[in-house]
Parts: sequence; structure tokens; C-alpha cells
Amino acid sequence: MKVAVLGAAGGIGQALSLLLKTQLPAGTDLALYDIAPVTPGVAKDLSHIPTAVSIEGYGKDDLGKALEGADIVLIPAGVPRKPGMDRADLFNVNAGVVKHLAEQIADVCPSACVGIITNPVNTTVAIAAEVFKAKGCYDKNKLFGVTTLDVIRAETFIAEAKGLNPEDVNINVIGGHSGVTILPLLSQLGLDFSDDEIAAMTHRIQNAGTEVVEAKAGGGSATLSMGQAAARFCLSLVKALNGEEGVVECTYVDGGSEHATLFAQPVKLGKGGVEEILSYGEISAYEKAALDGMLDTLKGDIAKGVEFVNG
Ligand SMILES: NC(=O)c1ccc[n+]([C@@H]2O[C@H](COP(=O)([O-])OP(=O)(O)OC[C@H]3O[C@@H](n4cnc5c(N)ncnc54)[C@H](O)[C@@H]3O)[C@@H](O)[C@H]2O)c1
Repeated sequence: MKVAVLGAAGGIGQALSLLLKTQLPAGTDLALYDIAPVTPGVAKDLSHIPTAVSIEGYGKDDLGKALEGADIVLIPAGVPRKPGMDRADLFNVNAGVVKHLAEQIADVCPSACVGIITNPVNTTVAIAAEVFKAKGCYDKNKLFGVTTLDVIRAETFIAEAKGLNPEDVNINVIGGHSGVTILPLLSQLGLDFSDDEIAAMTHRIQNAGTEVVEAKAGGGSATLSMGQAAARFCLSLVKALNGEEGVVECTYVDGGSEHATLFAQPVKLGKGGVEEILSYGEISAYEKAALDGMLDTLKGDIAKGVEFVNG
């Protein structure tokens, strides 16, 4: 198994690469690619950690080598938010970065599973899908928007509010990955929440990224928690590709949703990527209204990505 991280020298990339170096199964190859000159140094640094995961760093001219033979490609390359920005403000730079990287993936490792972290995820996943379609290698079961950070935030905040062990909280977060398109299905937890608590908790989960952006005061957005979230997603995918049964994650996929062409929902992962789209189950009237209310935004975000590639 080979995992490539594109944007590996950044805040997320370094945290993610550290977690993968220490947690991927023995025998995995980890390829770190970034345009930043420090990248071979990041790989050298991580290579001194004694695990049976081999690691190689690739500089800006070596994207092809980094991607050669990759089974999984994770993309946190691009620019993060500063205070006052929302994820859509990142579009101008990040759309081009993701398009370029997707083109190279299509040329070098067209059958890899690709997990996109670069924001705005609602749009960048659509961009990658359109690039793969144009290149004739689109497999909807192998393209994922990584929305795991919304899930781990929800688990943390709910556990805090209810005095639970966060490891015992499992929640579906559906929709997309920005503002109102993030919908945690709190009603399914069987916990005692008042309507006000539901509204406040939903709002906090939707805006948790901004909490971090503001607390970092111009120093970027979530990197360490995102590294953890992406590592969780990647390790789940590795297990599933290796044939482990019952691996489920919420992720933003082209899964035939009645709501939008791309939609985050619980997905059973398997040897070929998406094995089965699972039902997100019963939802409350509050959640139904929130779902209906997000769809114009989500569809607009997707259309922007399609248009970026196809004009
Ligand atoms: N999906 C999520 O939940 C989530 C959460 C937080 C942040 N993000 C997004 O992840 C992205 C990265 O965030 P960060 O904090 O790590 O930013 P960062 O600036 O710390 O790192 C980004 C890295 O990407 C590299 N890069 C830029 N263009 C590149 C290219 N063409 N090829 C390869 N590498 C390239 C940069 O050199 C840099 O090292 C941002 O778009 C951010 O909005 C997503």
C-alpha cells in the first residue's frame, strides 16, 4: 500500500504525515509532496521515527514520482483561511491547485482513492470529479471529500456537553463542509437535548472552524485536529482496502443522493473504495428544515466547481 500526501509540508500536511508515519500498517510507503522547499526535510525528520512505514519526500518537480503507484492520495495543498474569510474566499487559489493535482493523479495513478481536504471542499471535490471525467478515469467510488473534522468536532462537543467519553459518541454529519451545509444529526443520539441546546450545538459544530481561525488570529485554520481527522479517514480507508469488514465513515461523495450530486453521508468502505452508501436514517423536523435550507448553497457550491473546469 502506498499513501501520497500532497501539500505535506503545510500545517495539516505535517500533522497528518506524522500520524500516518506512526499509525499506518507496517510495510506501507508514505510519499510526501509539496512545492515548499522544506519538504525533503520534513520527510527526513519523520524518517527518524522508528516505524516500519517507509517515507520519502518529493520537491516541486517530482509530483509524478510521488504519485507513482499510489493507492491513496490525500490533498491538503492550498491556502487556509484568515479571520474574516469564509471557505468560499479560498476558491481563487485552491481551485487551480486542486485542478492541477487532479490532472496529475489522472495521468499517473488514475485508479487511486483520492481524499480532498483543500477548501472549499464542497467545490474542490466537484473540480476533481470533472477533471477525472474529462480524463476518462472517473470512478465515483474512489473520490472523497474529507468531512471527518465535522464528525470529530461533533463527538467532542457533545461529549463535553453531556459528560460522556468522546470515544463513546458516534454521530452522522451529513450535507457538505461549510457553514449551513454541515448538518450533525443530533436527534439520532438518544440524548436529552432541549430545542435550544440542539440549535446552539448545531451552530457551534457548523462554525467550529471559525472558532479556530479566530483563536489563531491570522495564523491559519485548523491543522492539528484536521490532521487527526484526515488520519482517521485514511486509516479507515486503508483497513477497508485491505479487506476489513464493517468500516463506515461519513464522507462527501457522489453517492446518488436525492439531495445533491455530491453529499456527505455515512458510507461503508470496502476494497474498491465506496462499497455501499448507507441511509442516514430518521431525522427530526429541525434537521429536515436545515437539510432543505442548505441545498441551494450546496448545489451552488458544486455548480461552481463544475463550471470552473468546464467553463
Ligand atoms: N477539510 C477540512 O475539514 C479542512 C480543515 C481545515 C483546513 N482545510 C483546508 O486545508 C488546506 C490546507 O490548510 P493548511 O492549514 O495545511 O495550510 P498551509 O498553508 O499550512 O499548508 C498548505 C501547503 O500546501 C502547499 N501547496 C500550495 N500549493 C501547492 C501545490 N500546487 N502543490 C503542492 N503543495 C502545495 C503549501 O506549500 C503549503 O505547505 C486549506 O485549503 C484549508 O482551508 C480543510
